[in-house]
Amino acid sequence: DGEAYKYYSDGEWKKSASGKTVNIVNPSTRKTHYKVQACTQEEVNKVMEIAKSAQKAWAKTPLWKRAELLHKAAALLKEHKSPIAECLVKEIAKPAKDSVTEVVRSGDLISYCAEEGVRILGQGTFLVSDSFPGNERTKYCLTSKVPLGVVLAIPPFNYPVNLAVSKIAPALIAGNSLVLKPPTQGAVSCLHMVHCFHLAGFPKGLISCVTGKGSEIGDFLTMHPGVNCISFTGGDTGIAISKKAGMIPLQMELGGKDACIVLEDADLDLAAANIVKGGFSYSGQRCTAVKVVLVMDSVADSLVQKVNAKVAKLTVGPPEENCDITPVVSESSSNFIEGLVMDAKEKGATFCQPYKREGNLIWPLLLDNVRPDMRIAWEEPFGPILPVIRINSVEEGINHCNASNFGLQGCVFTRDINKAMLISDAMETGSVQINSAPARGPDHFPFQGLKDSGIGSQGVTNSINMMTKVKSTVINLP
Ligand code: G3H
Repeated sequence: DGEAYKYYSDGEWKKSASGKTVNIVNPSTRKTHYKVQACTQEEVNKVMEIAKSAQKAWAKTPLWKRAELLHKAAALLKEHKSPIAECLVKEIAKPAKDSVTEVVRSGDLISYCAEEGVRILGQGTFLVSDSFPGNERTKYCLTSKVPLGVVLAIPPFNYPVNLAVSKIAPALIAGNSLVLKPPTQGAVSCLHMVHCFHLAGFPKGLISCVTGKGSEIGDFLTMHPGVNCISFTGGDTGIAISKKAGMIPLQMELGGKDACIVLEDADLDLAAANIVKGGFSYSGQRCTAVKVVLVMDSVADSLVQKVNAKVAKLTVGPPEENCDITPVVSESSSNFIEGLVMDAKEKGATFCQPYKREGNLIWPLLLDNVRPDMRIAWEEPFGPILPVIRINSVEEGINHCNASNFGLQGCVFTRDINKAMLISDAMETGSVQINSAPARGPDHFPFQGLKDSGIGSQGVTNSINMMTKVKSTVINLP
C-alpha cells in the first residue's frame, strides 16, 4: 500500500520523526518497490544511548544463554526464509534460489557463531611471572575476553542479510550490543531479518536497525562517540570511514579485483567452469568474483573457447525466474559498467559476445585480448563483464595481480601443487584458492583483504576475537 517500513529501536518498530522516507527501487522494474524511514540524527543518538545501557546487562548474561538466543534467532530466520528471500529478489534482483540460499546460509552462520562463541569465550589464559627474567613466582595473571561495547554493522547491498548476520552474531555472542545500518537496496530484507531477532526475544535495545540516507546519517553514525567498533562491508566508503573513525577497532571488506591465473598444465574444463561461476554468478556483483583472467598464451584460445561455450548457456532475465544473469543493482551501476565496456571497445578489446543492455539488465560479456591500458584491466565492474589478459609467463600474471590496489582473493589453476604454492605465496592477496574460484565461504574460514581490500580478518572466529578485547587481572602474592 506504499506505506514505509518502520525502523527498529528499543525493541519497537517506529516511524521516523523526520516524516521522510527513502525509496527502494526494484532493479528489474526500475520503479519504487518499498519505502523505509529516513531516520534523523536525534533518532541515531537515542539508539546509541539505548544500545549502551542494554549492553551492560547483556555482558552479564551467561554465555550459554546468549548462545541459546542466537540459536533461536537462527531457527526463526530459516523458518522465515521465503518472505525474506522474496524481499532480496525485489530489492537487489538476486535470483530466487540464491536468495533462499543466502537466508539459510545466514541461519547456519548464526548457529555456528553461537557454538564457536561458547568455546572460545569460555576460555582464558593463566600466566605466572617467573618465566620472565628477574621475576619470582609472585604474580599470577588471568586473562579473559571482554566485549567492546556498541558495535556498528554496515553490510552491503549484495548480501544484506548474510553480511549483516556475519557482524551481528559475533558481536552479540561476545556480549556487545549492535546497531545496524542496512544498505538502501536490501534494507527491507534486513528489517525482516532483524524481526527474527526480535521474535527470538533478545533484550530491548540490544539490537537496533536505523534506516536512512548515508548522506544524512552515515558519517554521523560512523563518527558517533558511542560506537566502539565498526564492521563494514562495501566499496570506497570504507576508506573514507577508516579515515574519519575514532580510535576503535575496524573490520573492513572493500571489494577486490580477484585474478584468476591459468597455467599451461591446468585442467581447462575445471578452470572454465570456475571462471564462469566465479565471474558471472549474481551477475558479477560479488567482491570475490573473478574479475580478471590471466591466462598463458599457449592455452588461451582453448580456455576462451570453453568459457564462451558456457557463457552461451547462461540464462538472462528476471530474478523471479532464477535466471543466471539478472539486472544489476542500479542505473548508475549499469552506466558505470557500460563506461568500462566502451573504454575497452575504443582501445581494441575483442568482444566474445555482442554488448547488450536493456535497462539494468546487461548480458554476460567476455572481453579477450585486454591490455593494461584499458580501465577494465584494473577497475572492478561489479557486473557481468569479464576481461581476459593473455600472459607469456607466470611472473607476468603475478605482477599484474600485485600491481592492483586491491588484494582480496585470487586463484590459480595448475596440476602442479608445488607451483601453486609458490604462486600463492607470491600473490599479495588475503586468500588464494588453488583450482577453484575465489569465495568467502565456508563462512568459518578466515576472510581478509590486503591493501584497499580491507582491514582485519573476518570469518567466525576472527570476528568474535576482533569484537572483544583482552582483560587481565593480576594477583600479586606476598
Ligand atoms: O561480496 C562480498 C562477499 O563477501 C562475497 O561472498 O564469496 O560468498 O560470494 P561470497
